[in-house]
Amino acid sequence: MDAITQAAGQLAERIEALGQVTDTPGALTRTFLSPANLAAAAMVSRWMEELGMTVEHDAGGTIRGILAGTAGDLPPLLLGSHLDTVIDAGKYDGALGVLTALAALQVTGPLPFPVHVLGFSDEEGVRFHATYLGSRACVGQLGTEAMEIRDFAGVSLAEALGKEGWNEGATRFSYEDSACLAYVELHIEQGRVLEELGEAVCGVSAICGQSRLAVGLIGQADHAGTTPMEIRRDALAGAAACILAAERCGRSDPLLVATVGKLDLRPGASNAIPGEVKFTLDFRHPDDACRERLLGELLAEFEAIAADRGLKLAWDLVQANPAVPCDPGLTERLLDAIELVTGGRRLLPSGAGHDAVMMATAMPVAMVFVRCRDGLSHHPDEYASPDDMAAGLRVLVGFLQDISKS
Ligand code: GLV
Ligand code: MN
Ligand code: MN
Repeated sequence: MDAITQAAGQLAERIEALGQVTDTPGALTRTFLSPANLAAAAMVSRWMEELGMTVEHDAGGTIRGILAGTAGDLPPLLLGSHLDTVIDAGKYDGALGVLTALAALQVTGPLPFPVHVLGFSDEEGVRFHATYLGSRACVGQLGTEAMEIRDFAGVSLAEALGKEGWNEGATRFSYEDSACLAYVELHIEQGRVLEELGEAVCGVSAICGQSRLAVGLIGQADHAGTTPMEIRRDALAGAAACILAAERCGRSDPLLVATVGKLDLRPGASNAIPGEVKFTLDFRHPDDACRERLLGELLAEFEAIAADRGLKLAWDLVQANPAVPCDPGLTERLLDAIELVTGGRRLLPSGAGHDAVMMATAMPVAMVFVRCRDGLSHHPDEYASPDDMAAGLRVLVGFLQDISKS
C-alpha cells in the first residue's frame, strides 16, 4: 500500500472518530467552547503530537500544530479549517480540512518551511450568531466590541472566554503581525456542482460576502382567549410577515440568499399572545454593493411591517463580511495539483463562508473543494466518499510538494 492510500484510510477513520465527539448523543453538535468542542480539540491535538508537531491553544479555543521547517527561518504555511459544527451536523464540514492537512503532512513529512495546522474553534457562529470567532481571534479582529456580543442565554463572549479558562496560559496566535506564506483550506463543496460535473475536486475563485443580523420585535403579551384579534400586537405574527418578506427578497435576485434560521419567542405558551420575538437573519450575495442595497430594502420593509402592526422593531448588524477573492497565483498552483488528479482545472465560487475569509485579512488564501453527496451539508447525511477524500488528499500533497521546490 502506498503512503497516500494508507494516509487516506486513516483520514476516513479519523473523520468517523471525530464525528462521534458531540454535545448531544445521537446527533453531532459542537459549538463554540462547548465540552465536545474542547474534547475534539484535545483529540486532534493528540494526532498533531503523533506527527511530531508542537501543539498550542489560543485564548479562543483554537488549536495549532506546528511542524518545524527543514530550511531555516522561513515564513510558515498555514493549513486547516474549523472543528465546531452546526446543530445536528455532518462529519465533514470543517473536520475534513483539518484532518486532510494532517494526513498530507504524514505523507510529505517536514517541509522546507514551517507548517501550522489550525483547528479553529468557531466558524459556524452557532452560539453567538457571529461567525469566524476562531479565525478572527487569530488575525487580531476580535476586538472589545465583539466581546460584548451575547449568546441566546445572555452570556457575553468575554464571559464565555473567561469561564472556560482559555484566557489563562493560552497563547495568542497573532498572525496579523507576522509574515506568512499563505493559508490554504480544504473543505467539502456543500453544493451540487461537482457532483453534476462528475469531478471529485476543484479550486475556489472567491468566497461570498455575508451579513448576519439579530432582529427583535416587541408587541404586547396578553391572554389568548380574551384579547380580540383587532387589538392584538402579536410579535410572532409580525415576525412571520418579516420572514416571508425575507424569503421574497431572497427570491428577487438569483444570486441572493436570505435565511431566518433561529427564532425565540416570549412568553412561549400556547394560551398567551407572543409579546416578544427575536430572530436571526443570514443574508448573502456575491456582490457586496448588491448585498448592502437589498438588505437596506428588506430592513425598510421590516420597519413598515412593524409600524403597521404597532410593534417595536430593533435590529443589530452582528457581522458583515465582504466577498473575498482567493489569491490568483496560489490558486494556479493548486489548479496544477488538481489537474494531475482530475485532468481538469475547475474553479467554483463559494456560497458558504469559510475561515479563509478572516485569514485573507492577513495573508494570501486559497481553497480546495471536495465533492459531497447530493451537495448536502449542515445535515447528518452529509457525506464525502473515501475516494473523493483521497483525491483531496492527493491534491494537497501534490501542492505541498510543488511549493516545497520553489
Ligand atoms: C458556514 O458554513 C456558513 O457558510 O455559514
Ligand atoms: Mn465549514
Ligand atoms: Mn458549515
